[in-house]
Amino acid sequence: MIPGVRGTRDIVPGDVERWQHVEAVARDVCGRYGYRELRTPIIEREELFAKGTGESTDIVQKEMYAFTDKGGERVTLRPEATPGMVRAYVEHALEQALAVPKLFTIGPMFRYERPQKGRYRQFHQLNVEVFGVADAALDAEVIEMACTFVETLAIQGTELVINSVGCPACRPAFSEALLNGLGEDLPKLCGDCQRRAATNPLRIFDCKVAADQSVIDQLPHSVDFLCDTCREHFEAVQRYLRAYEQPFRVSHRLVRGLDYYTRTTFEILASQLGAQNALLGGGRYDGLVKQLGGADRPGIGFAAGLERLVLALPGTDDEVAPDVFVAALGAAAREAAFVLARALRAGGLQTLVDYEPRSAKAQLKRANRARARYAVIVGDDELARGEVTVKTMATGEQHSVARDGVVAALSSS
Ligand code: HAM
Repeated sequence: MIPGVRGTRDIVPGDVERWQHVEAVARDVCGRYGYRELRTPIIEREELFAKGTGESTDIVQKEMYAFTDKGGERVTLRPEATPGMVRAYVEHALEQALAVPKLFTIGPMFRYERPQKGRYRQFHQLNVEVFGVADAALDAEVIEMACTFVETLAIQGTELVINSVGCPACRPAFSEALLNGLGEDLPKLCGDCQRRAATNPLRIFDCKVAADQSVIDQLPHSVDFLCDTCREHFEAVQRYLRAYEQPFRVSHRLVRGLDYYTRTTFEILASQLGAQNALLGGGRYDGLVKQLGGADRPGIGFAAGLERLVLALPGTDDEVAPDVFVAALGAAAREAAFVLARALRAGGLQTLVDYEPRSAKAQLKRANRARARYAVIVGDDELARGEVTVKTMATGEQHSVARDGVVAALSSS
């Protein structure tokens, strides 16, 4: 057996129904908030992420499945959807095509990370983006939609955390304050933090190394360095959230691991997930569209990890089971059984047939194992009378039904 690639997973029957449920709720919620679906390729030019996600991020530095294709072009499997969504928005002039460019996509992403529970190398996201609106009301609506999505899935024990990381006008003062705050402690921090201090000091808040935490806890907070416009924007976001009666916590450590964020950042955490506890995360990125060659348009969005949503979903007992199992007894009956199965399926009933000639007992055992609601037994003698036997599996009750009336009888039951 050749095993699957490390960090990838098959979604097998039994699990796939939970995925379909999460995806159906995602589509329904997105639809109600006015989002349209946009599907972009899984493969993109490597430079899209170097420029978009950011050179200083772990994603671009260590985690991309990037390679040179046979034509000599540097391409990568997408590690996230946002830069591709921006590219498509610009490339297809969706600003003109859509009244409000509210877009979502659902699909696989690829990051070469160390696999653990809730963290995989191929994983899936619901990714949501809105372009062209700077108002704080949209930030709050996007966050409220994310909360509604998680609530609709009945996931328990969640917490919304928010922060503001400022804009290019106020960020430099904050970065400087961080470096000053670190002062002589910087050499004591891990290698990653030293690198971060040189490239993007904000990223130091992402550090998970236990020994570094006492120093990081003493560092200044971005909200104390916001310029007037950023501060007013963040206050407005919080006002709207209060109006929605949406509980939240402001966390100054929530800087997020991607370079494009400006102002609002947010995550929804689930206590039951362990170390990888972010169900979803996102924020505003007012400079990204321009940086990727578009007009100067603000943007905001989030992405939810479908694996984590499925993990956090409460259990359900409603296993998928067929409506009918057709059992054929005798050579002539076999042909009739397949024709009847087609009629039952055309009538909207999920139907299985036994492909091997077996005894009645063996076929009914199969029907039982498949958890079918009814078995329809087609025998040579009955067939001659134009009848079949319908057995209700739960009660064992059995009665004869006219062959021509069986679809109607079972469809209405
Ligand atoms: P992100 O925080 O990198 O943001 O990922 C969003 C979510 O994807 C995480 O909260 C988590 O649920 C899931 N996720 C990330 N990496 C993995 C992994 N290796 N295995 C399983 N799940 C994972 C973004 O991707 C941004 N593009 C979000 C965004 C959209 N910001 C603005 N617009």
